[in-house]
Amino acid sequence: MLRDETAPLNKYFALPKVELHRHLEGSLRLTTMVDIANQHGVTVPDSMFNLSGLVQVQDQDPMTFTNFLDKFKTLRLFYKSPDVIHRVTREAVEDAAKDNIRYLELRFTPVALSRAEGFPLHDVMDWVITSAQEAAKKLKIKVGLIASVNRHESADLAEQVAWLAAEHMKDGLVGIDLAGNEAEFKSDPFHGILKEAKQAGLHLTIHAGEWGPADNVRDALENLGAERIGHGVRVMEDESIVALAKESGVAFEVCVTSNYQSGVVKSLPEHPLPRMIAAGLNVTVNTDDPSVSRITLSHEYQHVCEDLKVPFDTLKQSVIKAAQASFLNEAEKAKFVESLKQELNL
Ligand code: ADE
Ligand code: ZN
Repeated sequence: MLRDETAPLNKYFALPKVELHRHLEGSLRLTTMVDIANQHGVTVPDSMFNLSGLVQVQDQDPMTFTNFLDKFKTLRLFYKSPDVIHRVTREAVEDAAKDNIRYLELRFTPVALSRAEGFPLHDVMDWVITSAQEAAKKLKIKVGLIASVNRHESADLAEQVAWLAAEHMKDGLVGIDLAGNEAEFKSDPFHGILKEAKQAGLHLTIHAGEWGPADNVRDALENLGAERIGHGVRVMEDESIVALAKESGVAFEVCVTSNYQSGVVKSLPEHPLPRMIAAGLNVTVNTDDPSVSRITLSHEYQHVCEDLKVPFDTLKQSVIKAAQASFLNEAEKAKFVESLKQELNL
């Protein structure tokens, strides 16, 4: 690690925070996995340390997207019952609230959660929605849900997820996301589905320019009408697409540690986030998969200021930018942005 790991996190913890890009499946507590394994007879290594190696990126791991995605293959074994899905959703909201996150957009992958036990997609969606709403109310944190579909999985299933998501817009389901293996799979099979989802009123965010080239950011903007870009850091490889993104004002959901761990950047200090800000792009700071990456959003804010040398005031501005790019309805958003500005003295 580059930074003094003992440097106080307090300053970053104290900031009211906004998280736009967090996957439920990448947020499971290790202790909860052990409980689930004991209760449901999932065979896992007999020590936390060895379990961690299967589901969390280790310093000695190859920093590649295949290694990163492999963690999710193991994680899929844990979604054994409705109670498990309720619990992991509740805990994901609790962990965000504990990190002083005021608004969390939590994305979940219904196909991943339903796979192990063959749960119907509509049940899985109901369980996540119910638990997220209950936890949000109890903990006084705002939560919006986003349904994710993976590029490397079936477009037919994605279509079912999109229709179910549209039916649940009144229940706090605010958007749809295209995730998964961007290096080897194009977005084309999903164009029609995502366009229809947007027409139905769902907001749209697309993982692009993470493991795939800058042109995927153009594809997400021009062909899919993305309102936000998941990661998008490789946009910096093409000036004309930087200009397009700047002109559109699209928000980038940047996840610094995840980008290092999945091989997008060779080292943290080389992360292009400061250059993205300097180029006038609309940049927000997020975790992606806090458990897989073993981080919190406070840690990511610290990395951004202390390793990437982004001024603290610029970080504070990015919190406002995140609130402005959120998928809250306009009235709620205006109130929320105002309250954050007051609290952040901006
Ligand atoms: N699913 C979970 N994390 C992801 C990432 N960083 N990119 C694409 N799909 C993901
Ligand atoms: Zn992601």
